[in-house]
Formats: sequence, C-alpha cells, structure tokens
Amino acid sequence: MTREEAKKLVSQMTLEEKAGLCSGKDFWRLKSVERLGVPEVMVCDGPNGLRKQREDSDNINDSIEAVCFPGSCAEAASFDRDAMFQAGAAMGNACQAENISILLGPGANIKRSPICGRNFEYYSEDPYLSGQIAASHIQGVQSKHVGACIKHFAANNQETRRMSIDVEIDERTLREIYLAAFEEAVKEAKPWAVMCSYNRINGTFASENKWLLKDVLKDEWGYEGLVVTDWGAINDRVIGLEAGVDLEMPGSGGTTDVMLVEAVKNGNLAESVLDDSCERIVSRIMTYKENRNDSAVWDRTEDHKLAVEIAKGCMVLLKNESDILPLSKEQSVVMIGKFAEKPRIQGGGSSHVNAKNWSSALEQVKTMENVTYVSGFDTRDAVSEDEKRLEKQRFNDALAAAKNAEVAVIYAGLPDVYESEAFDRKHMRLPEIQNQLIQAVAQIQPNTVVVLHNGSPIEMPWINDVKAVLETYLGGEGVGEATVDILFGETNPSGKLPETFPIKLEDNPSYLNFPGSTTKVEYKEGIFVGYRYYDKKNMDVLFPFGHGLSYTTFEYTDIEVNKEQITDEETLEVTVTVANTGKRFGKEVVQLYVQDVESQVIRPVKELKGFEKVALEPGESKSVTFTLGKRAWAYYDAEGKGWYTEEGEFKLLVGASSRDIRLEASVYVTPVQKLKRVYTMNTILGDLYSNQEFKDEIAELKRMCDSVFDTDGEKMLGESMDAMMEAQTREMPMKSLPSFSNGKISREYVEELLKKLNA
Ligand code: BGC
Repeated sequence: MTREEAKKLVSQMTLEEKAGLCSGKDFWRLKSVERLGVPEVMVCDGPNGLRKQREDSDNINDSIEAVCFPGSCAEAASFDRDAMFQAGAAMGNACQAENISILLGPGANIKRSPICGRNFEYYSEDPYLSGQIAASHIQGVQSKHVGACIKHFAANNQETRRMSIDVEIDERTLREIYLAAFEEAVKEAKPWAVMCSYNRINGTFASENKWLLKDVLKDEWGYEGLVVTDWGAINDRVIGLEAGVDLEMPGSGGTTDVMLVEAVKNGNLAESVLDDSCERIVSRIMTYKENRNDSAVWDRTEDHKLAVEIAKGCMVLLKNESDILPLSKEQSVVMIGKFAEKPRIQGGGSSHVNAKNWSSALEQVKTMENVTYVSGFDTRDAVSEDEKRLEKQRFNDALAAAKNAEVAVIYAGLPDVYESEAFDRKHMRLPEIQNQLIQAVAQIQPNTVVVLHNGSPIEMPWINDVKAVLETYLGGEGVGEATVDILFGETNPSGKLPETFPIKLEDNPSYLNFPGSTTKVEYKEGIFVGYRYYDKKNMDVLFPFGHGLSYTTFEYTDIEVNKEQITDEETLEVTVTVANTGKRFGKEVVQLYVQDVESQVIRPVKELKGFEKVALEPGESKSVTFTLGKRAWAYYDAEGKGWYTEEGEFKLLVGASSRDIRLEASVYVTPVQKLKRVYTMNTILGDLYSNQEFKDEIAELKRMCDSVFDTDGEKMLGESMDAMMEAQTREMPMKSLPSFSNGKISREYVEELLKKLNA
C-alpha cells in the first residue's frame, strides 16, 4: 500500500486507534483495526531462521521447528551477495507459509571487539561488507513480500549493560563506521523496519534519539519504513514517538497508548507526529496483507539443502601447509572432538531456532571405512573427580588414536556457554582442555588439522604446530555435511575472513575501553576499528581481514581504470582479470581497497570499497569490474556536516586479502564541493598556505612573511635556526603577524585578508 493510501486510512482512525497501533498487542503481534480492514500481524526473530512461537504455547521460547541457516558471522565470510539473497528469499517464503509479516533481522552492528557476545549474529568489522551482505539478505526476504528488520540501530557493540550503557562516540566515527552499514542497507534495500537499540548514544537513548532516528535515518537517508524498538527499549513513550520510534514492542498492555492519547489531548504531542508513525506502520501491514501468499509451502528438506550449500561457501580455510587438505578417502583419519558428534550450529539467545534436521560430521563419514572417531573432550568443564578421571581417559584415548592414524582432524570450538546474547566473552581463548589436546595431538601427529566451530575469533597458541585450520564459524544445520565435503575435497573452500583475527585480545584497538565503566563506554579508538587499526599500526595479526585459502590458485592481472582523473561526482571503473591457475574448480573473492595517498585528515591506510566472488574452472579467466562513486574517496567532516574528498591521488589496491594486494592503479580525484574552512585570527599560516582557492592572495602573504621572517632560504642564522624560523612561521597564528613583524604586516591587512578568504 502506498503512503498516500495509508494516509487516507489513518485519517479515518480515532485517536485511540492510532495510539494503539503504535505498540504491540503482545510479545509478537501488532494490533489490528478491524473496522478499517487493518489485520493483526505477527513478527518473529531471525536472522538465520524463523523463531516463531508455537501458537498453542505461552512460552516465548517454545518455537516451531525451523531450518537453521549459517549464522551471520559465517554468512559474511561467504562474501557472496547471491547466496545471501537466496537464504533471505528462503526465509521470506517460510514467513509467508507461517504467516509472519516481518522477520527480525539482520543485525548490522560492527564488530568493535572480538569478544562481544553477540558477534556471531553480526557480519563484520567493516561497514562496507556489513552493509552489502545485509542489503542482500533484506532484498532476499523482501522479494517474498515479507519485511526484514535491520537491527540494532545503533552502536550496540557489546552485551555488557546493553540496556543502559551510554556510548560516547564522535560523529565522524559514527558516520564512517557504525552508521555506514545501516546507511548502505537502508538506501539500497529499503528494509520495512529498523530496530533501534537499547543503549544510549552520547547521553540519549537510541529510542529517544531524534538526531539518529529522525534527522539522520528518516530525513537525511529518506527512510520510509517504520522504526520499532528493540524489545523493551522504550524509555519515555511520548519523547520516543517524537524522536521517531513508530512502534513499541512488545506491547505495554495499553499503558503507553494512554500516554500518547493524553499527550495529544493536552497539547504535548502534535497529532501529525502520531499520524506519520501510523502511516508508516499501516502501509507495511497492508502491503503484507495485499501480497499475502497463503499457498506458500515451506519445504524444509529443500531449505536444508540450501543451508548446506550456503554453509560450504562460508567456510574459511585459514591454513593449509603442504596442501594437507583435501584429505583422501584412502588415508586413515581419526576425527577427534565433541563437535564432530554434535556440531555447534548456531548461537544462543533470541536468534536461536528450533532446528531438528542438523547432521554431524560423524554421521557424514559413517560409510568411510578409514575414518574413526574419539571424543577427546567434552564441551562441559569437568568438575567432579569422576568427570576429571573421564576427561583424562578421553584425552589419552585421543592421543593413542591420533598416533595410529595418518591424519588427525580435531573438531574444536567454543561451547554454548562461552558466547551468547546477553553477555560478552571473558577472553578470546578456547577452553583450556581443547588447547591442551590440540597441542598434545600435534606433538605426536604431524598431520593435524583443526576444524573450528565458533562465532568469533579465538587465539590459537598452537597455530605453528598444526598443518591446517578450517574456520566454519557457526555454520547452521548443514555444517556437518559442509565440513566433510570440504575436508575431502568435494567442495573447494572459498570463504574469506570478514574480520581480523588478532594474535591476542590485548592487540584489539577497543581493548582498553571495552566494555567501559558502569555507565559509559568511550569509543576512543575512533575510526580505527579492525584492520583499519592493525594496518595503521603495521601490526602482525594472526589472520588478516579478507584472508582465506583455496585448493586451487588464482592469478590477478591487467588492472585498468577507465579514467586517470575524475571529479568526486563522477564514477570510476576499475577492471582486473582473475584466472584459475590450478587444477580444481574454485571461487575467489576479489577485493578492492582504496587508499588516500596523501591527506591532511587522519585516515586509515586503506578501506574496502568493492568485492566480487568469481567462479572459475581450471584455466578459466574472467574480468571483474568495480564501479566507485564519491564514498570511495570521502571522509566525514563533523564540522562541515557532510562527506568530503581531499583533492589528490588515490590508490586502488586489488587483492586476495587486505594483506595480499596483487595489483594497484591510481586515480587523481578533484572534489566538486570543497570543505569550506573558516579562517580566523587563530588560523596558523601553515593551514592558510594549503588553500588552493585564493592562490594569488596566499602567494602574496607568503612573500611578505618570507621577507619579514627571513624564511626564504638565505642561511643567515645557521641551519637549525633557519629551520626553526621556518617552522615557527608555519605555526604562527594570524593574530601574531602584526606584532612579530613589528608592524610590517598590519592588523588591517590581516583582517581584510581573512574577510576575503571567508567570503
Ligand atoms: C534482541 C532482538 C530481538 C528481540 C526479540 C531482543 O532482546 O536484542 O535482537 O529481535 O529481543 O526477541
């Protein structure tokens, strides 16, 4: 239903009906206005499957059987927009079959710290990648005329005190890092709903943050959908509505509806504000009603197959020394570790779906004669003496089995209690027993492979002792099939890390300020999140952003740009050729990073601005073209309230990871709209000298200064004094020119010049 039509409908509603529409009927349902044909609709959690509460149950955790797709942490590693669309479309179809109008997801929060408990539900440390993957997921869901709800807007990057913490953050960091993923997805995919987060941002709850919800999201980005609270995030309902929160969830039992009615009646709330919210809500409900497909069939078997396929494309081969992988079915292989028997397919909390159809790696290898299994460890810590004895026994059995096999594959990972919604991880390590086991096995078995099940990075103290590591993240219900396929070479791995794996937690830029104090957390690292930080500091990392190996090899050649010089309002095309130079079919994620070669503004070394996943047969090559617009060059200037480009050369770095750049080219970019600087008596000469607009006036000023302060190169005072004079002049504020020049440069002249420059 169009906005105009919704407006007509809303104009026929009573004040009470309108207020009622702005909060839920219960935990999962929105209210109806029967007499006007507005139906009651239901929503449910995503993002990686449907958590629909059973109709006949009072328990909000009692949900129907669903298909569990790979977690968002894994999905991002696919770098595959089409696959994300397909997963989204499958879930959208399931929503139609189950009469769900909005699926609550995806989460597009940035992974500021590797130990945020909910990282498994988020995509990346990089806003471009997060935004692109989120947009594809949303487009997929919405292709079935069901809404997606991007969450948690904004700066919800930790679970500790998530409902009360105040995030102190500067605007540039917000815009470039934490809002950017949402901006991209909102503009590109137009989600039906945006869920505001629980936390405060610079003192104001997201649910009351007019700047965030109204000024930026709705007005600046042109967002037409509805804003819903995270469950229970409302603080003051009237302030919230005015700030841009259209829908409060879950319902308040009518309490806050009364508040809205009273606020309108006593003149504290303009009815037009309420109307605007109702129009947004009604237009989505009616669009759902109009496109309702009650003959949709949810074929869980088909969706399971899709979940397996998608999982295969998400897994990241981190290390593969001596090409130990893929394994051959002739080799004697021992699988070790509880996760081979019972994989961890998903994270805990509101995204947890009731998946029944998962299969283990063990099940997949049961017809392979040369594969054996020992559990090696339990995912629960041993507490009692008996448990400790058993633990020792398992450990020793695993060592014996590893010694007798040709290859040991250890299925390790984080147990459920280590990471979940509602709490952050305490450290970045695997359970100690697993680290000990990997280390011990690797000592007696040179062919040790580790398969990981974890929603976020871990430290790997044994990395130099094992031959291969396959990161499966939380791979959904198809993870068992997918890992075995990859281990034995049926599928060639093609995932890339959507985040940096630091060597240790202390290396992470947020380390000193995570999770903050009792009331606030300061994002002091600013824009230097993830690889932006490690690159700038030139630090070693365990595995860099974008890293992932393949069983084949790829060659990058022939980088070309279609123009050598552009304005920032034009687009640039960058083309490269990628060839499969190995013997197997494979997929490569070609990544494009942009570097501002010289800048006055502090900027990252490089930023991801494009990626494509390319499928190639052996010997085949394809050309890949990226189109770059203004955002590829721009940074956000908080004083200038906008995105600006600094004139100059930009490098285009194309490669297989952020630290494996294979080709580079460059372009000269001239901004059309320059950042207008305001010059004052306290502006220093050095800053004025870089002004390009008033070249003549500045040249004249420079001549005067050179002669008065003797910085024109005549060596009068000795080298160091000359250098000092030159630096001192560059640092001198305008106000000091008359006195330091002993009146030779007059105050009137300085005032006139400033007037001219600021005109
Ligand atoms: C979570 C949301 C979720 C909602 C409903 C909240 O606690 O933060 O992501 O959609 O609950 O279950």
